[in-house]
Amino acid sequence: MLLAGSTNRWLRERATKAAFVRRSVRRFMPGERIEDALDAARGLQPQGIAAILTALGENLATPAEADDVGAHYCEVFAKVAAAGLDAQVSVKPTQLGLDFDQRLAERHLDRLLECAEQYRNFLWIDMESSPYVDRTLALYRRARGRSTRIGIALQAYLYRTERDLESLLPLGPAVRIVKGAYLEPPSIAYPKRADVDENFYRLCVRLLSAEPQQAGALVHIATHDAALARRLLDHVRQHDVPRAAYEIAMLYGISVAQQRALVAEGHRVRVLISYGEHWFPWYMRRLAERPANVWFVVKNAFG
Ligand code: FDA
Repeated sequence: MLLAGSTNRWLRERATKAAFVRRSVRRFMPGERIEDALDAARGLQPQGIAAILTALGENLATPAEADDVGAHYCEVFAKVAAAGLDAQVSVKPTQLGLDFDQRLAERHLDRLLECAEQYRNFLWIDMESSPYVDRTLALYRRARGRSTRIGIALQAYLYRTERDLESLLPLGPAVRIVKGAYLEPPSIAYPKRADVDENFYRLCVRLLSAEPQQAGALVHIATHDAALARRLLDHVRQHDVPRAAYEIAMLYGISVAQQRALVAEGHRVRVLISYGEHWFPWYMRRLAERPANVWFVVKNAFG
């Protein structure tokens, strides 16, 4: 229901104006402005936690909006450099105009990659719902041919991901493995959580194996699932995988104690910090991931 609601316009228009919803959002989002996200990244740095910044928003209304997104992220790279922060950038392909034209998205991605190069930083491409997967992979392949400063998210819930990953391995890719956040039918995605988890494990192990590592692969183990992360970190230890081969990635405000514990154990941890005004569909996906969060919203309604 929550995932279906995430794309409902009527609900979005009402919920985003409700004070109690706005209060609950703050738990996962330091604020709507880039400065709020930079402050949050600055706060994490002394704890040994690096950041990834992402402006919320997807499926633009006009191609011109993609220009603004491109310009905004280049500015973010400049601000991160000026602030001396270890903070990368992550972008949704539809924010770059993928719904309108693949070439438009390519042009914007090229520009962002130039900024990432200029500031010696790194750009991630998020993976959106299944109709975008082929086009997003094409964007990544093209961009990876131009620069090593780019990574892509792949979703463990899709049957096709194992094949997609194999096809990327010769590139020595940087891959963020996630479980997957969209509503997908069982014809294309594992309906059972246990199967998603097992695929997540297999995909990460494949990226951490000798041949992809020799080609320069990096994996972001992007999960709050403590048991799954532990299983992967046991694999890392047993196979002497170097620390440079992987990072643990989590979302701002979620499993904070786990983030700190992993840093204390010597693992590299990076937290994705979201900001921006268009937080409704993203927030609904966060609620869907954990029903307990719905009670948090309800408590805020009466608190
Ligand atoms: P799972 O959902 O099994 O949760 C494990 C445990 O983590 C829960 O029991 C709970 O304790 C805690 N937890 C998880 N979500 C929580 C929440 N919202 N609130 C409070 N606790 C929570 N997806 C996608 O489709 N495309 C993408 O590009 C990305 N990018 C991305 C980047 C990063 C850095 C992360 C961490 C995640 C993504 N995702 C994503 C989202 C991902 O697909 C997935 O929906 C969430 O990470 C939740 O799944 P978990 O792996 O955390 O496990």
